Amino acid sequence: KSHSVWVSRPLFPEVLAHLAQYVHVHAETEDRKHSSAELREKLAAVDGAIVALSDRIDGNVIAGNQRLRVVSNLAVGYNNFDVPALTAAGILATNTPDVLNETTADYAWALLLAAARRVSSAERWLRAGHWRGGMRFDDWLGVDVHGKTLGILGMGRIGQAIARRACGFGMPVLYHNRSRLPQTVEHDCCATWVEKSELLKRADHLMLVLPYSAQNHHAIGAAELALMKSTAVLVNIARGGIVDDAALAVALREGRVAAAGLDVFEGEPAVHPALRELDNAVLSPHIASASADTRRAMAQLAADNLLAALGYGPDAGHPRSPLNPEAWGKHAAE
Ligand code: GLV
Ligand code: GLV
Repeated sequence: KSHSVWVSRPLFPEVLAHLAQYVHVHAETEDRKHSSAELREKLAAVDGAIVALSDRIDGNVIAGNQRLRVVSNLAVGYNNFDVPALTAAGILATNTPDVLNETTADYAWALLLAAARRVSSAERWLRAGHWRGGMRFDDWLGVDVHGKTLGILGMGRIGQAIARRACGFGMPVLYHNRSRLPQTVEHDCCATWVEKSELLKRADHLMLVLPYSAQNHHAIGAAELALMKSTAVLVNIARGGIVDDAALAVALREGRVAAAGLDVFEGEPAVHPALRELDNAVLSPHIASASADTRRAMAQLAADNLLAALGYGPDAGHPRSPLNPEAWGKHAAE
């Protein structure tokens, strides 16, 4: 075996075994955030790496690295990568698109329904033994989901998978995206494009599915929350930092937004203490893609991308989801 790879967090043993058929594998056995200095040191010693969202791969981390050929992200979102810096260094970057679309869309609905119908807080109340003390007929009233207008901010492949499910709930869909979808796709998703401010005002419930970028930082802040209906549920399965979590906590506490379902947080794994205090927020630890089948498929795709970039396996030389194929070209031409 002439190549070595680093895997930055624990992964399915069968996927590590698959990698080990081709390359030397150095796999971490504990999940933790790596500092720039640690990443720089780990990456200097390998030809490729599978990394996690918490690993920030920027110019500083790869500076002077003559060996590294590929970094394979265990995620579809790649705001942890400085892609131009990787390209300039001739290092291929890959991600895990598509295999998680449907599973992630399911989870967005799980959060919407749980937050609208108060599933988490009702369960906490039940587990605490309060039910035996009696319950009024008008206790635990939530807001309806079916028949309401669903707003989707960010209409990529996951947004579209969410929208298709809305038909079954009898929900018209409004969406906002930088670019409008082709009419056939809009029709397929029962979705209508509107301006962002109109989306915020008209949506009965709002799902955030847009990629994180500096321009999208706090795309939902105090001003945007103020446009939303006080009966609305806000779902964030996109990225921490898209929502101003402090402003959201205030809106939820004051009842200006009815409830929220949040899978991602600014500065996660830390979660804003004000959010943790609120009963009308359903909180989960970034698990929207975490079904047994889908997490396996993501790990397998990340491994296949890595191996393909190093010239192994059925896709040798042709990784399935390159983010900067022009970087790959540099090495292929060598
Ligand atoms: C998870 O958030 C991902 O980007 O895959
Ligand atoms: C809502 O989920 C609440 O318990 O207030």
